Amino acid sequence: MSEGLITVAYIGATILFILSLGGLSHPESSRRGNLFGIIGMAIAVIATLMGPRVNGTLTFGIILAAMTVGGAVGVFAARQVKMTQMPELVALMHSLVGLAACLVGYANYIDPTAHLTGAEKTIHEAEIYLGVLIGAVTFSGSVIAFGKLSGKIGGKPLTLPGRHQFNLALLILALILGKVFLGAEHANDGLFPLLAMTAIALVFGVHMVMAIGGADMPVVVSMLNSYSGWAASATGFMLNNDLLIVVGALVGSSGAILSYIMCRAMNRKFLSVIAGGFGTAGSSSAVAAAPVGSVVAINAQETAELLRSARNVIIVPGYGMAVAQAQHTVCEITKILRGKGINVRFGIHPVAGRMPGHMNVLLAEAKVPYDIVLEMDEINQDFPTTDVAMVIGANDIVNPAAQDDPGSPIAGMPVLEVWKAKTSIVMKRSMASGYAGVDNPLFYKENNRMLFGDAKKMLDEVVHNLL
Ligand code: TAP
Repeated sequence: MSEGLITVAYIGATILFILSLGGLSHPESSRRGNLFGIIGMAIAVIATLMGPRVNGTLTFGIILAAMTVGGAVGVFAARQVKMTQMPELVALMHSLVGLAACLVGYANYIDPTAHLTGAEKTIHEAEIYLGVLIGAVTFSGSVIAFGKLSGKIGGKPLTLPGRHQFNLALLILALILGKVFLGAEHANDGLFPLLAMTAIALVFGVHMVMAIGGADMPVVVSMLNSYSGWAASATGFMLNNDLLIVVGALVGSSGAILSYIMCRAMNRKFLSVIAGGFGTAGSSSAVAAAPVGSVVAINAQETAELLRSARNVIIVPGYGMAVAQAQHTVCEITKILRGKGINVRFGIHPVAGRMPGHMNVLLAEAKVPYDIVLEMDEINQDFPTTDVAMVIGANDIVNPAAQDDPGSPIAGMPVLEVWKAKTSIVMKRSMASGYAGVDNPLFYKENNRMLFGDAKKMLDEVVHNLL
């Protein structure tokens, strides 16, 4: 394939990736967005395979074999992983992007065929240094994020004394090593500072994510997503591949925007999340007031009666709905109630569940109409005029302590104000806390009822009583 044709293919792929991102912004267009992404990636891979870099059957064969093995692992992992484990899988994938950036950097540096001199050599080496640096931070940070999300490492933030000074020292060391690396005459002389910086970047990645508490992990995952994009972009510079630069920048910037949106949804400042020390019950729960009073439990039959006599119902799904896989039953209840002329809508919190858009994906899968699925900001003011707010396996996102208790670890996080409805019903198995590990005063409110049990089982019973 000629250079010109490859450029055209790359431009086409870039456009498809941009359209893909646009499509993914709404559940209705997300399938189309996904398809654009798949076609764009197929074009990019084919054009690269046909390009001048893949010369000879041996190279072609090696790439094909690697793609087959990688593809098989990917298909296996995607089939095995449960929806609730998606963030862990994503974190693991980010670590691979980081590792790839590191390896490409080293391969580029020791490439015996590269004969660059002068400014060109310096620029190329700066690209390598930066690529390896970002790659190593992304790699080790993502591995720790995977460990935390899968519960293999505790969610409590590691707050070493003088940790900011430690980070600063690592940064200064990396800068000094960068100067030594760029000043090296021969490849062998530069290898030591490159290796030393890689070790520092790995330590930095571990330390950075270890210092971030459990409740802030969603932001960390999207931040690492952003880093993996910049690592891919740096790889594009090293390999002189325009498409990789553009795609990396798209991933990098969209990850950064997502991090910002999530920080806003959790009332966190991005810099304070990165600085660490937040986001766990252990960090400040000592000063959080414990709720008092007793809870009123109801059964499925009473729930069905409350729903049947309501005119306006808002359903707030959370992580528990995903665990119980109750979305189809939720859809069934919605159909029955709407059939009786009851106005049923859904209130979706930006960080409900365990990944961005988690609830939207599940509700779309169950074929809940998109027009009754509303974002938190669109529906929050409607709770006072709502008869029944039904909380299905959600906890942190409906916790009034976020507004009322400045000592709460989730203080300031915007929440769905279900307690303002005439009656709220919380469906969960026990009094256990949610992801942030904080008690929920909602359960003790006078107008709140608890429907204890597995969400799927209880909703099946509610359906039975509604029919
Ligand atoms: P959580 O606060 O984690 O609460 C979920 C509740 O579901 C739990 O209290 C649990 O109580 C209940 N539950 C679990 N399995 C259930 C089942 N089979 N049937 C019924 N209930 C069940 O979830 P949320 O309200 O969706 O809030 C999300 C939290 O996760 C936030 O703190 C957020 O910051 C964090 N987070 C979000 C993301 C993203 S990006 N969405 C990523 C990582 C973390 P029982 O054990 O008593 O049943």
